Amino acid sequence: MTDPSPSLATPYRTHTCGQLRAADAGSDARLSGWVHRRRDYGSLIFIDLRDRHGITQVVVDGEDAPPEVLEAASRVRPEFVISVLGEVAARLAGTENAKLPTGDIELRATELTILSEAKTPPFYINEPDAPVDESVRLKYRYLDIRREPMQRNLLLRSRMVQAIREVHHAHGFLEIETPTLIKSTPEGARDFIVPSRLQPGSVYALPQSPQQLKQLLMVGGIDRYFQIARCYRDEDLRGDRQPEFTQLDLEMSFVDEASVMGFVEAMAIEVSWATVPDRPILQTPFPIVTFEETLERFGSDKPDVRFGMELVDLAPALVGADGAPASGFGVFDSALAVGGRVKAIVAPGMAGVTRREIDELTGRARRFGAKGLAHLALAAGGEIKGPITKFLSDDTQRALIERSGAAEGDLILIVADDADTTAEVLGRLRVELGARLGLADPNVLAYVWVHRFPMYQWDTDNKRWDATHNPFSDVLPEDEALLVTTSGDPARPAPDDPAGRARALQYDLALNGWELGGGSIRIHRRELLERSFLLQGQTIEAMREKFGAVLEAFEYGAPPHGGIALGIDRWAALLADQTNIREVMAFPKTQSGSDLMLEAPSAPEPSQYEELGLRFVGVPEKRS
Ligand code: AMO
Ligand code: AMP
Repeated sequence: MTDPSPSLATPYRTHTCGQLRAADAGSDARLSGWVHRRRDYGSLIFIDLRDRHGITQVVVDGEDAPPEVLEAASRVRPEFVISVLGEVAARLAGTENAKLPTGDIELRATELTILSEAKTPPFYINEPDAPVDESVRLKYRYLDIRREPMQRNLLLRSRMVQAIREVHHAHGFLEIETPTLIKSTPEGARDFIVPSRLQPGSVYALPQSPQQLKQLLMVGGIDRYFQIARCYRDEDLRGDRQPEFTQLDLEMSFVDEASVMGFVEAMAIEVSWATVPDRPILQTPFPIVTFEETLERFGSDKPDVRFGMELVDLAPALVGADGAPASGFGVFDSALAVGGRVKAIVAPGMAGVTRREIDELTGRARRFGAKGLAHLALAAGGEIKGPITKFLSDDTQRALIERSGAAEGDLILIVADDADTTAEVLGRLRVELGARLGLADPNVLAYVWVHRFPMYQWDTDNKRWDATHNPFSDVLPEDEALLVTTSGDPARPAPDDPAGRARALQYDLALNGWELGGGSIRIHRRELLERSFLLQGQTIEAMREKFGAVLEAFEYGAPPHGGIALGIDRWAALLADQTNIREVMAFPKTQSGSDLMLEAPSAPEPSQYEELGLRFVGVPEKRS
């Protein structure tokens, strides 16, 4: 990508390496950059000179360049940093390079200075498609960043963040930095802690999010806050998770759910257009589905809505006139008899699967938690095939096919289990098969809101209700009356309490099957907060330990408020069409949390132990 801004001129360059055009022919120019490629024909040397703006061909011609210039040019090697003064010349007809924006011209060198020499890099910088082991890329990340894919991704991320800032400022938000040496802000992961030297025996926690601080900003009357906030979570890493990551964190006062979702949606659309103008957004306004509906239809709380293949409930085809299970297949009937589900997805065009493919799919389903995977294939001509046909009457088979919506040539994959397992297994199979069958258009951006999450989930070990997201999330107004226990005593919760049915004013934004962000309207009334905490098995005193500042602040006039946080790394990865957030992070960590370039984490210096009053127990003395 080129950036023709003339303000980039310095004593080292009049133009960038992506800037010169045919209209510049005849003028003098000075360029500086890295040697991308050199072709040496003795008295004629071509150098492709590269910076992040592009590549310009430099010609050192022994016929007219001074001998020392030819000599210097013959010494340069790939990745040397050089500066070249010369005359811009139109290339000879037929030698233009249509692939380069600068391809109509070349710079005929009259002066060439080597600014830095370079060792042979551990991988080719100039062949972006050549596969390189990721650990080598991460160890030499600065070289990896010189390559085209990382340049493109970091540029995209920078544009995205710029657009985010512009939209927020245009909508009356203040950008405020919150500290990162704080007290624990639990978001469900472990804290990273930092020992204090001045107060031995005490630690700071790095924020898992700025959640409490942003709520305090609302009590402080800031009204609309946002931050590009660094967050730290000690949890198992995956393609979409890093121990250190960035959130677009925002909070608004005097808002309801629709106000926050409305702003975030408009902002997300503007940011997408500004960042990847050529990628269409599947649907605006973004679809809104309830948590219950998305589990029912997609088996996921972060549905990929770029393709159909929705989960279908087969129960109506399996019960008799009296509503009792009567399919004749024990697996289905017994699941239904105990209140479970029998659901299916239809894989288009897969009726011809081999036995091995079925075994492989069954293996996957088992790994996702299923006891088995039944299937029916609707062959061309309408014949229904599959080992379970022998258990099912012709009528039941036909009813199943009709219910599933399968067409000739399709394969129906069926799971019978409890509601959570059927959703989980079929939801994951749906995503895998969608990818395998190429059903999701990779260019499209499909944003979708999921809301009305349950307030709580039952914690069997501790015999209490746990907040499913944020302990401060407010309840849907019509469900407020449900925040009670069957026993009548909020301090004695039980799994069949009405509270288990209460829904929160919690909303998530999903994009192409990833959870992009989540937020909620917060409880700002102290009485309700206390009741909610009691259901969570916590006294207000115990909560004061964890959330003391917020609870105290709420006694001094808290406005109704709510907000959200979106993962910047995930958003950039999705917009850059990457499957791992490492590809859009300049210096990410490995799966085991290491920085291979800086070699972190590392053992502290002995003097640091002493100053901090620390002793490590049960670890190797010194890792070399
Ligand atoms: P939540 O915990 O859902 O909400 O986080 C918001 C978003 O942050 C991103 N994210 C991550 N990205 C990369 N690596 C990680 N380890 C990681 N963990 C989370 C995700 C996620 O959707 N305080 C609340 C927000 C609020 O209620 O306003 C919060 O942090 O994209
Ligand atoms: P079985 O009766 O265990 O031999 O299983 C017969 C068929 O039903 C096999 O294809 C199994 O994979 C499948 N099956 C078993 N349990 C389930 C289940 N819970 N849901 C869907 N199919 C199942």
